[in-house]
Amino acid sequence: MNWPHEHLLDIESLTAAEITTVLDTARAFKAVGERAIKKVPALRGKTVVNLFAEPSTRTRISFELAAQRLSADVINFSADASSFKKGETLKDTARNLEALNADVIVIRHSASGAPQFLSRVVQSHIVNAGDGAHEHPTQALLDTFTIREKKGRVAGLNVTILGDILYSRVARSNIWALTKLGAHVTLCGPSTLVPRVFERLGCRVTHNMDEAIAGADVINLLRIQHERQRKTMFPSLGEYTSLFGLTRARLARTQPDVLIMHPGPINRGVEIDSEVADGPNSVILEQVTNGIAVRMAVLYLVCGGKGPQELAG
Ligand code: CP
Repeated sequence: MNWPHEHLLDIESLTAAEITTVLDTARAFKAVGERAIKKVPALRGKTVVNLFAEPSTRTRISFELAAQRLSADVINFSADASSFKKGETLKDTARNLEALNADVIVIRHSASGAPQFLSRVVQSHIVNAGDGAHEHPTQALLDTFTIREKKGRVAGLNVTILGDILYSRVARSNIWALTKLGAHVTLCGPSTLVPRVFERLGCRVTHNMDEAIAGADVINLLRIQHERQRKTMFPSLGEYTSLFGLTRARLARTQPDVLIMHPGPINRGVEIDSEVADGPNSVILEQVTNGIAVRMAVLYLVCGGKGPQELAG
């Protein structure tokens, strides 16, 4: 299918077929990353601006690498060193980037809805790199890409997302992507961070870790989003870890081929023990590598790329 969107703002508004097109396109681009010369001319002459108003390691660098591998020019905009500090608004900033011929603006912002807002005030293609607690669509795409690559499918798998669901944009995007692709999603964590309202999105909710991980094909761990919590959501980190931390002993009670995932940054000894994070079931660093191919696919598609059939032809 041809890709019909000029922006990537969320997963909620994508169909299963559109998500699959991104994953298939990413698979073609992953092969490019395995060659000695990792560049293709798909976005030659285009300019991609990374507008990050929140910290990032993985997402910003992989968008930069993705744009470079597509032969685009890349500008990294750091909010701390910008005229945001002099009071310039997000709208004026984006309109100035547009005046500087930004074809794509990749935005990370603490305000939910910031990418949607920009898509209404500038002509550039907008890609959401994480907006508040709303969505982090490319993270969910690289997570589902990794699951599909490792397990051969997404439909019918039992995927448990464990941790701070309430404040997590990664969780929201993953829930949309996984349920649209036919996975069975279980959410687990303290009741304050995993309210039953998520059942309305088609997920199973449990506050019992053993119940959540038994029978899981995939366990995706999330860190506690301290920066977005407005009050204390559980008594102590120690108590959180004792009830919901993934230790080797708990891992031994899961399926032997369970995939252990984490979007990063990981907090060793809190939501995940080092021996689990670095163990044979972990695909955490493969997720990071897959982020480049998935972000190449997204940049290429929003700029008018037709999809994997065009790359094969
Ligand atoms: N997963 C993720 O978004 O990581 P960064 O904050 O380092 O980009």
